[in-house]
Amino acid sequence: MSKFTPFTFLHINDHHLGTPRSYRFRPAINRRWAAIKGQLAQVEADFLLVGGDLTRDGDTHEYEYQLAREDLDTLPFPTFVIAGNMDVGNKHTDRQGPHPERDDVSLNVTSERLRLFASYFGPINWTFVHKEVRFTGFYAAVAGSGLPEEDRLWRFLERLPDLPDARHHVAMMHYWPYMESPDEPAWDITEPGQYDDWYFSINPPYRGRILDLLEASAVDLLFCGHVHTGRPVEVIQGMRIYRTPAAGNTAQLAERWTDAETRYGFQLCEVTEAGIEVSFVVGADQCEEFDSYGPTGHPRIEDRDYSLAREQPPLSPDPWLTQD
Ligand SMILES: [Fe+2]
Ligand SMILES: [Fe+2]
Repeated sequence: MSKFTPFTFLHINDHHLGTPRSYRFRPAINRRWAAIKGQLAQVEADFLLVGGDLTRDGDTHEYEYQLAREDLDTLPFPTFVIAGNMDVGNKHTDRQGPHPERDDVSLNVTSERLRLFASYFGPINWTFVHKEVRFTGFYAAVAGSGLPEEDRLWRFLERLPDLPDARHHVAMMHYWPYMESPDEPAWDITEPGQYDDWYFSINPPYRGRILDLLEASAVDLLFCGHVHTGRPVEVIQGMRIYRTPAAGNTAQLAERWTDAETRYGFQLCEVTEAGIEVSFVVGADQCEEFDSYGPTGHPRIEDRDYSLAREQPPLSPDPWLTQD
């Protein structure tokens, strides 16, 4: 057997690069990410995995795709990217949630946005082998959408178990597959007490189908972001599940868990003969919010005030395209 070559790769999620040309901007997020990016660039890594939510409002501002692309291109190694909901739209729903200021159905992931995202960052679903380790990325939140991209996701995942074996298999999917347990029920978007759980995780039957297919593909390490809050590593169906803190945006739901990791940072992943060791590296700038403006959450396009932009010219929402 040939001698195995040790190597290092990196992982981040949720750096949410924003712009003062927008109706809202939080300079602290960009500053926290800038420090992390500087730290990443010092590592002798083969590549960086980017676990989604590269942008603040990429789902309505193509300009932010361009910003995020050019920003990643300043790193001294390649990047492999999956989409997040702030980039391409939320997990699909046919029903409105309990927050009147948030039009949940209009926030659904769309084919147009996925195609546009792919034109900047590459295929939505991808898998490759590097130095005997397989790496796989996909956007789980198309599950249940009925979009052509959902069919592609299932075909992609169902094919994974038949691909050539590797020494290890690392996957990432943006959403958490579950909140507390893989056996928990489907969360109801219309129930105020369940909205957050619905928003942050994948509901059955998709949750089980995804986890089963990943298990059948011998995935041993799964990265999930989206919540911006780190949780202890869990082993589920033979997979080490890393729910990782953000590389810039603020931790959410942190009050739920006494052991929540709320610091910004990245994962340093060292692959050796003995396995893959993942360590959390704390970002060098943990600054508080400063000079922020504009609303949080998911404001409707008609409720946005672009005259707040502090840099000219202000952005405007991309023209809405009809779904096919
Ligand atoms: Fe995020
Ligand atoms: Fe997200």
